[in-house]
Amino acid sequence: MNLPTHVTIVEVGPRDGLQNEPARIPLESKLELVERLAAAGLPVVEAGAFVSPKRVPQMADSAELFRQLHRRPGVRYPALVPNMLGLQLALTAGVEEIAVFVSASEGFSQANINCSRAESLERLAPVAASALAKGLRVRGYVSCAIGCPYDGPTPHANVMEMSLRLMEMGCGEISLGDTIGVGDPEQVRSLIDAVTKVIPRGKLAMHFHDTYGRAVANIEASLREGISIFDSSVAGLGGCPFAPGAPGNVATEAVLDLMERLGIETGVDRAAVAESGTWIRQRLGRETQ
Ligand code: HMG
Ligand code: MG
Repeated sequence: MNLPTHVTIVEVGPRDGLQNEPARIPLESKLELVERLAAAGLPVVEAGAFVSPKRVPQMADSAELFRQLHRRPGVRYPALVPNMLGLQLALTAGVEEIAVFVSASEGFSQANINCSRAESLERLAPVAASALAKGLRVRGYVSCAIGCPYDGPTPHANVMEMSLRLMEMGCGEISLGDTIGVGDPEQVRSLIDAVTKVIPRGKLAMHFHDTYGRAVANIEASLREGISIFDSSVAGLGGCPFAPGAPGNVATEAVLDLMERLGIETGVDRAAVAESGTWIRQRLGRETQ
């Protein structure tokens, strides 16, 4: 398949990147990060999560973040929403796009959102319907699309089923998460081949965590399967508190390098992203990568 000429990068650093940070990050730093990333030309910056503050304390100030955020015209700022309460809080804070999330495996579903896959679909259907009725965009995540820290390898049928159900709920885009980064390019090809039997290729995004350093190769394999939307995190920050061992997302800088090497446009200023990466790592007290 021909490579796409343009790719959309969904920056998830302010949410997936920061949600697992142990020390409290000041709201001003989160705001500045989101604003820097949007200014760098990233078209989508996932900026927060309206989840239980007891389970993910780092996202507890998402409502305040959205209230104070200076939005750039044309940039989308989705926020994670797990249930109706999350949607209500997101709407009050002025969120215009939500991301709902389910797991392709039972073990991670229970660990992450404290319910079964079937229950999560029942819980989210009215959330998506209500968000759509209010004119919001809805994105859908399917986690553990390749492997699960609790259940092992994930059958394609589970991913196909959960993706299809999210699309039927009205999700405009489905992001398949390799939550613990166990996939390799061959598995990625075979997963995309299966899921595109039920989801249009243009509506599929890939979300790679980089446990074994294969995320960039997995993105290249996805590109060759005609995928043109990728989630990534500035400076490779990230991890999920409920997926033991899950490290950061693939770094946005590495994705931009790949696209440049392959001559694919992104509209993103790589130097500005790298500067934001250095800045946030310093804020978090990390060495620069
Ligand atoms: P639950 O544990 O089943 O309990 O929650 P609940 O619904 O009875 O609520 C428990 C308490 O949380 C109650 O408060 C609720 O009011 C409150 P209490 O009475 O104890 O004081 N609560 C909320 N508060 C604020 N906002 C809300 C909300 N909902 C309930 N929306 C729930 C279920 C899903 C809410 C919970 O388990 C939860 O928040 N889990 C965290 C999920 C999460 O954020 N995980 C990380 C993000 S997913 C991810 O990283 C994967 C991804 O990157 C893709 C990939 O890599 O694969 C997207
Ligand atoms: Mg993730």
